[in-house]
Amino acid sequence: MQNMRKKIVAGNWKMNTTRPDGKELAKAVAARAAEVPEGVGLIIAPPFTHLCCCGKQLEGTKVELSAQNCADHAKGAYTGEISVDMLKAVGCQWTILGHSERRQYYGETDEKLVEKVKLALGAGLGVILCVGENLDEREAGKHFDVCATQIKNVLYNFTAEDMQKIVIAYEPVWAIGTGKTATAEQAEEIHAFIRKVLADKFGAAVAEEVTILYGGSCKPSNAKELFAQKDIDGGLIGGAALKADDFIQIALSF
Ligand code: 13P
Repeated sequence: MQNMRKKIVAGNWKMNTTRPDGKELAKAVAARAAEVPEGVGLIIAPPFTHLCCCGKQLEGTKVELSAQNCADHAKGAYTGEISVDMLKAVGCQWTILGHSERRQYYGETDEKLVEKVKLALGAGLGVILCVGENLDEREAGKHFDVCATQIKNVLYNFTAEDMQKIVIAYEPVWAIGTGKTATAEQAEEIHAFIRKVLADKFGAAVAEEVTILYGGSCKPSNAKELFAQKDIDGGLIGGAALKADDFIQIALSF
């Protein structure tokens, strides 16, 4: 009964593409989506400004729409923020939360993430929660502790039922945009560990069902080896998600 959990390849476009470029990219991904096996989910996360128009390109395909972040309040006087209801209303099914770039540059804390996850789930959005250590932490051998703390601080506030709507992305910061991928063994070791941290709280059966993605310089040339690992259920793709052919090629790597 192993591996009943969903496989997913998600593209995090970050702050790339203008609206016309984004529309073309979404259209190109949508055009090839049918090539990807039924059991593999596809998600794209364009910038806020073109969620709506990218979403239109995905209609009638299996590709789902995600935001890259959401506000930690439901509504009101929070200039420049985007609420979960706004995301839902433009057709998002998902939001990425806790990306290392948000933790590093925008003061995203685990406390804020608890609020964001609550709001997202409450609005009916799925959550892709990112965790991962930086280079100093990896070199100091603290990567297990860092990931465990991030998971506990955020997800231990939720229920086993909530976990059905939550995907985890392990993204070692030193591998993001650097061309330096974690080896399949390094990634698998942490993925298996994350599953154990989840099992400690929610039980082994729930932990077995959680989709855990790898992110960090994942590309067509290394996706196959990464995805062949027992606890790696797909990828959260940055740079390579900006080319439809590469993104689809990655999704064909299971
Ligand atoms: P790269 O694939 O560009 O390394 O980015 C990974 C990432 O941060 C996805 O969220």
